[in-house]
Amino acid sequence: MIKKCLFPVAGYGTRFLPATKSMPKEMLPVVNKPLVQYGVEEALDAGLHEIGFVTGRGKRAIADHFDVSYELEHQIAGTDKEKYLESIRAVISKGSFSYTRQSEMRGLGDAILSGRRLIGDEAFGVVLSDDLCVAADEGVLAQMVRLYKQFRCSIVAVQEVPEDQISKFGVIAGDPIKDGIYQVTNMVEKPEPKDAPSNLAIIGRYILTPDIFEIIENTPPGKNNEVQLTDALMTQAQNGCVLAYKFKGTRFDCGSVAGFVEATNFVYENIYNK
Ligand code: G1P
Repeated sequence: MIKKCLFPVAGYGTRFLPATKSMPKEMLPVVNKPLVQYGVEEALDAGLHEIGFVTGRGKRAIADHFDVSYELEHQIAGTDKEKYLESIRAVISKGSFSYTRQSEMRGLGDAILSGRRLIGDEAFGVVLSDDLCVAADEGVLAQMVRLYKQFRCSIVAVQEVPEDQISKFGVIAGDPIKDGIYQVTNMVEKPEPKDAPSNLAIIGRYILTPDIFEIIENTPPGKNNEVQLTDALMTQAQNGCVLAYKFKGTRFDCGSVAGFVEATNFVYENIYNK
């Protein structure tokens, strides 16, 4: 049903300089796997096998990562090192990978709009790979796809955050529909704590219906003079319905050094060594 997932990966990764000077931040390894591969695996596990990247300059390593390296395969085939290639081989065989460029950095809304040709006229997932999500059984996107089947409208993943963190996020207000599901009534991008409509912050997982593209086209630049997906979703909520879903799982903010280290420790102890 939902087959496609968009990954906006054009960002500079300034907070990780100098590491990200010539390497995409999405390729930074959390233990032994690049950050973006965790997101792609989550999408594949949710049944979203057509992966689209909205890239920018200096991001070619991502395309090389999701392609066969014949040299490496030739070197490693039949040796005891083959096990190290298992996860990426599985990803490459399950998914198809397409790329388009965002020529100017004009915000997340604009990045999504740049991916329109890769998506067409169908509902799709969005993963912001800076947010690494770990769930006990079912991945966060898979949980959201299940919800989409029931409600057929755009869905944003949310979690409660402390007041001093709220201005880093898009924040929603909503009417509870049932346990952990809200119909969105308000949405504000990175509000001051005093203006935040609640403590429910959007994290980087979305299911979007394709009417979002036209809405984004008609959305003027907002916070930080960027075209905000949050503003477009607010319009969608006013015109119809957007849901917010309190997902089951843990999210690590790998866009910050502290969050990245936390994720690394968690993955090392709970996933890599298991
Ligand atoms: C983006 C969104 C924001 C959301 C956040 C989640 O912001 O604009 O609404 O809460 O991702 O990580 P960014 O962190 O890219 O500035």
